[in-house]
Amino acid sequence: MANSTREEFPIKRTFIEETFPVKEVSAESVREKNIRHGHISTVHIWWARRPLAASRATAYAALIPAPESDQEAEEIKRFIAEFSKWENSLNEKYVERARADIRRALGYTPRILDPFAGGGSIPLEALRLGCETYASDYNPVAVLILKAVLEYPQKYGKKLIEDVRKWGKWVLEEAKKEIGQFYPSDIVEREIGLEKSKEEFIPVGYIWARTIPCQNPACGAEIPLMRQYWLAKKDNKKVALYPYVEGGEVKFKIVGDGYEPFPDGFDPSKGTVRRARVTCPVCGAMIDDERVRWLFRSGRAGQKIVAVILYNPNKKGKFFIEYPEKRI
Ligand SMILES: C[S@@+](CC[C@H](N)C(=O)[O-])C[C@H]1O[C@@H](n2cnc3c(N)ncnc32)[C@H](O)[C@@H]1O
Ligand SMILES: [Zn+2]
Repeated sequence: MANSTREEFPIKRTFIEETFPVKEVSAESVREKNIRHGHISTVHIWWARRPLAASRATAYAALIPAPESDQEAEEIKRFIAEFSKWENSLNEKYVERARADIRRALGYTPRILDPFAGGGSIPLEALRLGCETYASDYNPVAVLILKAVLEYPQKYGKKLIEDVRKWGKWVLEEAKKEIGQFYPSDIVEREIGLEKSKEEFIPVGYIWARTIPCQNPACGAEIPLMRQYWLAKKDNKKVALYPYVEGGEVKFKIVGDGYEPFPDGFDPSKGTVRRARVTCPVCGAMIDDERVRWLFRSGRAGQKIVAVILYNPNKKGKFFIEYPEKRI
């Protein structure tokens, strides 16, 4: 078209095309994963979220010109590394400098579009840098997250906090009415692991397993389908469900840190199911994937609860108890 009104991007070569403090920004991006308060990731879960540190640093480095000397490159890299830190998200000095650098380089307010914006890291950082920002996503959940992150705080200000609190409470009350009975905070004498204590434990989760009948006619055991038996797999806390056979039945016992020790040779990463093929823990018979699918399709599969996850308001971490539970 002859009379195009499209503005010419005035930067011939951008900073990010020349150099970038990859190592420092990566370290900040990793560190940011531990931030639990005030981070947009707490608004709603979204997969493949980009860290804010990387989004901020790359957006800035793509909107300023390449350095003219090594010295300038080093100074700007140091600035980017500092600016990408979580603690500097609201640092006025840094934010103002970044905005001024972009304005100076371009001579106008850049328009930024993130058509695959997901959880909104990139448009949020573009807004911080003073850009006219647009975001979209074809997933309606992402669109709602984007609105909550980018639009509503500016539109509703403090009123938004009050509303979130009010409606959050409403959801909690409604959920309590509907499913509260399944999460009773009852005080029972519970034998939790090696410690016998009479304390308040609140069930916060139930672990269920799908089951199929063993196809060996001499056995017929109810086989729980489990890919693995881990309940906690942290460096400082390893707990698993240990399957054992009693009276031709598969039962479970909690083993690991704080519980009975791991039995010799027990590998919790190997469950009863592997690639849709099932091994019976009672007789060792194998059931192939075709047969397993058929058992499900023909309504012969079942389900059973195998463990309960408990929470103690006075203690750190989660506790586990096999089901049916042993009571003292
Ligand atoms: C890698 S994620 C983006 C993550 C985002 N940068 C963040 O920090 O959360 C890719 C996004 O693209 C979206 N998407 C995939 N195909 C799309 C399409 N054709 N149109 C719009 N969005 C699409 C997905 O829903 C997903 O949210
Ligand atoms: Zn069997």
